Amino acid sequence: MKVVKIGLLGLGTVGGGTVNVLAKNGEDISRRIDCQVIVSSASARDITRSRICNTDDIELTTNPQDIVNDPDIQIIVELMGGEEPAKSLILQALANGKHVVTANKALIANHGNELFAEAANNKVTLAYEAAIAGGIPIVKAMREGLSANSIEWLAGIINGTGNFILTEMRDKGSAFEDVLAQAQALGYAEADPEYDVEGIDAAHKLCILASLAFGMPLNFEHVYTEGISKITPLDVTYAEELGYRIKHLGIAKRAEKGVEMRVHPTLIPEKRLIANVDGVMNAVVVKGNAVGTTLYYGPGAGAEATASAVIADIVDICRQLDAPLGSTVPALGFASDKLYERPTLSIEDVTTAYYLRLSVEDKPGVMAAITKILADNGISIEAVQQKEPEQHGANAQVIILTDSVVEKSLITALEQIESLDSINQPAVRIRVESLQ
Ligand code: HSE
Repeated sequence: MKVVKIGLLGLGTVGGGTVNVLAKNGEDISRRIDCQVIVSSASARDITRSRICNTDDIELTTNPQDIVNDPDIQIIVELMGGEEPAKSLILQALANGKHVVTANKALIANHGNELFAEAANNKVTLAYEAAIAGGIPIVKAMREGLSANSIEWLAGIINGTGNFILTEMRDKGSAFEDVLAQAQALGYAEADPEYDVEGIDAAHKLCILASLAFGMPLNFEHVYTEGISKITPLDVTYAEELGYRIKHLGIAKRAEKGVEMRVHPTLIPEKRLIANVDGVMNAVVVKGNAVGTTLYYGPGAGAEATASAVIADIVDICRQLDAPLGSTVPALGFASDKLYERPTLSIEDVTTAYYLRLSVEDKPGVMAAITKILADNGISIEAVQQKEPEQHGANAQVIILTDSVVEKSLITALEQIESLDSINQPAVRIRVESLQ
């Protein structure tokens, strides 16, 4: 049987998981592709460290160049993360005619256009299923399974750490900071947890999903990004009382005047399946104009779950090794010369409904003043609730759900509301999506 040799750059959680899954399922994988996949070498900063996998048959090196320049290796799997040296090593591997598999979402979001072009120039594949939503085969679904569709929108829970934090805040009433510390202790969070909680990690993934959906080059700078660090247990509870859950969503939408790419906390009706995706699980809803609404659910991180996506890419590449040129699926699912830029809507021009929480002095006329300002700005109210002050003299909480409104109109209205004498704290505002 033909042997395909793999070189791993990085032997951490996902690298170790990849070795373990290949050992566990190697026989079935060989039957699928009629060749044997062998991890022949791996690079790591410290090759003396104990690993989650057996490395007896793997040549270990601290120098990743040894691997990308090894003529016997056909597929490089980059699992180091970060921009450099990962980018230079991938470029070197592609120039050497090697196929590359990566889980590096930041690298694809920021440099994917250049890297895909380089792969095409060298007639090799750069595959990246593991970069988005861990083990969920969402790239394959978007590029192949949904290829008959014009994608209208997609919305995803694409950061497990953020979802874990929001779930714990809801279930246990815990404060944001306490759950973040727990997520770090459990090893879910990125090395820099700001990437998780401020939405940067989700924005990397959303940027790639938007390009897959709309056939446009990657444009990370145009993703609007807002994290979950300002979400309070109070808002989680009030949202529940109104029949909503707060989820940190990445949303890409084809709107009339351009494409929306945004990552932010969002109220969604609790009856939607995605509203019930809890803990570190990920899910992506994709609305195609032929198929309708589809949902993809699964683990967004973890050694073997992410290895499942890495190995699926290796399997695809093995199947293509002897295929005629031009028979491979293009990197972003559209012929590379048919990708085109689309205008991106700035967040001020996006239209959504809103959850507002206003902390108000409990005196006559306040509610009338607030509703008048909303009406004067053309903002219709869907629901309103007032929570009495917890003690005498404290502020009351006014919760308002608005109908859809252009964001800049809402900002104007809130500036006017916040200038009322009876309002002495900034309003809380969270976007609402029906996801229908
Ligand atoms: N930190 C990421 C998450 C890991 O929590 O989803 C997977 O990309």
